[in-house]
This record gives sequence, C-alpha cells and structure tokens, in this order.
Amino acid sequence: MIVDKHGRGISYLRLSITDRCNLRCFYCQGVRGKLVSHHDILRYEDMEKLLYVASELDIKKVRLTGGEPFLRRNFFEFLEKLTSKFPEFDFRITTNGTITGNRNSLVRLKEMGLKGLNVSLDTFSRDKFVQITGKDLLSEVLNTIYLGVEIGLRIKVNAVALKGINDSELKQFVQLAIDYPVDVRFIEFMPVGEKTLWKRDYFWSAEEILQEMQKIVELTPVQHKVNSGPARVFVIKEGKGRIGVISPLSNHFCNECNRLRFTSQGKLRPCLFSDKEYNLLGLLRNSKISLSQLKKVIELIGKNKPIGAHLLAERQKEVCLTKMVNIGG
Ligand code: GTP
Ligand code: 5AD
Ligand code: SF4
Repeated sequence: MIVDKHGRGISYLRLSITDRCNLRCFYCQGVRGKLVSHHDILRYEDMEKLLYVASELDIKKVRLTGGEPFLRRNFFEFLEKLTSKFPEFDFRITTNGTITGNRNSLVRLKEMGLKGLNVSLDTFSRDKFVQITGKDLLSEVLNTIYLGVEIGLRIKVNAVALKGINDSELKQFVQLAIDYPVDVRFIEFMPVGEKTLWKRDYFWSAEEILQEMQKIVELTPVQHKVNSGPARVFVIKEGKGRIGVISPLSNHFCNECNRLRFTSQGKLRPCLFSDKEYNLLGLLRNSKISLSQLKKVIELIGKNKPIGAHLLAERQKEVCLTKMVNIGG
C-alpha cells in the first residue's frame, strides 16, 4: 500500500467516469465548461488498466463518480465487467439519481454485487429542485432512493447545506432518516470551481446544522472508525437510518485522508483542495510503458499527497479552480 509522507495509507480511489452531467447544479457547475473531446477522455480500457494498477497498489475501495456516471454509454456493461474482473474491490457509485429511478436498473446493480449508491438530494420541493439543478427531475431521484432501499442497496443521501435554500427543510431530511435505512448527510458548501457561486451567505456550518437538528430529534454520535470517510455520523432515536455531516471547511479531516482521485481525463489529483494534477493519459496509452512503471509513477505521486487544509490556509484564498463536475466530489 502507498503510505504518504504524512503517514497516511492510501486505500481508496475515486474515479470519475465522465465530466458530463445532465444537471447544472449551481454550486458545482458554475459556468458551463468547455466540452472535452472524446480523444482526451479515459476509455473504458484505460480505466481497466488503471484499476489493475490500483489493485497492485492495494487499493480496497473504488468509488465511481462523475459528472453523472450513468450518462456514459454502456456504463452498466462496464460495471458488470469490473465487478467480475476485480472482486477484490468494494465498488461504490456517487450519482445524481436522475437516471436510475427504475426497478430494472437498480436490480441490475444489486445483481452484479454493487453494494451501494450515494445519491444527491438537496431539496424535497419540486420548484427548488428546478432552481438548484435546472431540471425537473426530483421524482426520479426520490425513486432511486426509495426503490434502491427496497432492493437492498446501501443508500447514502448527500445534501449540500445551503442556508436560505434548504435550511427550512431540515425536518423532512430528518424524517427521511427516520423512515428509511439511509444515511442522510449534509455537506458543507465548498468553495470549489472556477467563478464559483460560493458565498458566505449560503454557508451553513455542520455545527449549526447539528444544533438545529438536536431540537428535532435525539442524536447519538457513532464512534468514528479509521477509513470510514469524511462524514461524522449519528444514530437517531427510533430511526431506521442515520444522520451525518461532512464538514471539510469547519472541521477538516485531512489528517486521515486515504484518497486519490482520477478525473475522467486521466489526471491524477492527490487532493480535492489542491489544483495540482498529473496528466497520466499519455503514459496510460503508451504501449512502451509497462504496468510496473505506471505503478511507480502513481506511487510517487501518492507519496507526495498534500494536506489540503494547509494549502487553503497558505494560499489565503478560499477557492480552488477546478470545477466539482470535473473532479467528481
Ligand atoms: P464514502 O465514504 O465512500 O461513502 O464516500 P464519500 O462520502 O466521501 O463520498 P461522496 O461521493 O458521497 O462525497 C460526499 C462529499 O464529501 C462530497 O461533497 C465530496 O466532495 C466530499 N468529499 C469526499 N472526499 C473528500 C475529501 O477527500 N476531502 C474533502 N474535503 N471532501 C471530500
Ligand atoms: N460543495 C459541497 N458539495 C458539493 N457537491 C458538488 N459541488 C459541491 C460544493 N461546491 C456535492 C454533490 C454531490 C457530491 C459528490 O458533491 O452534491 O453530492
Ligand atoms: Fe451534476 Fe453532481 Fe454537479 Fe449536480 S453536483 S451538476 S448532479 S455533477
């Protein structure tokens, strides 16, 4: 396993399948980006090669992200191939849930052994959903969540915490976690993306959310396990599910970060908050470069993984430029 200069073991890879998305969430996309040409996007065979190397590097968990991963052509077939070729990985997917809200898709995912989906849901109001995402697809997202649970997938709901937009819906989010065995997680709005629409006015901190929530329901913190991810999780009294908060700004978790990210253009990004990326597309497609050479390169970059919170402080500015839609969260 790669152990970086700060003693962090790297066991988790996030791989963006595409930077295209059918939604335009205002906090993610900002200004619509230039579309990248097909040639510059990782092909499925490039991704397989990468995953082979990741397996050699003892990566345990692979999260497939986007843009919206289900938009990529033949994604289901690719997933079927991956789950059978790499049984050593715990594969998960982060999705906006707009394409999978039907029984066939979800059963197919379950049958190929996929354990879970993280689904974005920022509001229960159809109008606000349109306001945030630009599309009228709330019912599809809710179907992905409800049917996903029914079919036995592990579902985590991601809600970006937006003061003045979804703070009035806290009760409904709590009710979702009471009624269904899902983790409902509030993510602090992060200043990521060129010309980001990040504003302090929207910022609703994890501490404020927890304080408000405690007025509605009794929360008991779950002991944080190593490598269990960025969320602080709470069980709720007489609830089937749990509540979580992800607080990269107010309470960063860089010290235990175990992640590397690959963008869909084959750029290795060691830290979400650093714009430093290493373009490995050429190496991946170069038949003269062996898999063990590729492994060495990834190992070297991983060893130098920075601590994002320090970078934010040093730069004295709050915005990193790459858009979330390119990084995959
Ligand atoms: P699991 O632990 O695998 O469930 O993943 P996750 O909760 O990290 O995955 P998900 O894709 O649902 O991401 C949830 C939120 O956490 C997103 O807003 C991510 O951008 C954020 N996040 C994920 N990883 C990191 C990280 O390394 N650093 C920071 N600052 N935020 C992260
Ligand atoms: N701040 C916080 N979360 C964000 N996401 C996208 N952009 C931002 C941002 N600027 C979330 C998405 C998705 C997850 C992968 O990242 O809503 O749930
Ligand atoms: Fe698409 Fe997710 Fe970005 Fe929304 S947050 S535009 S769903 S990639």
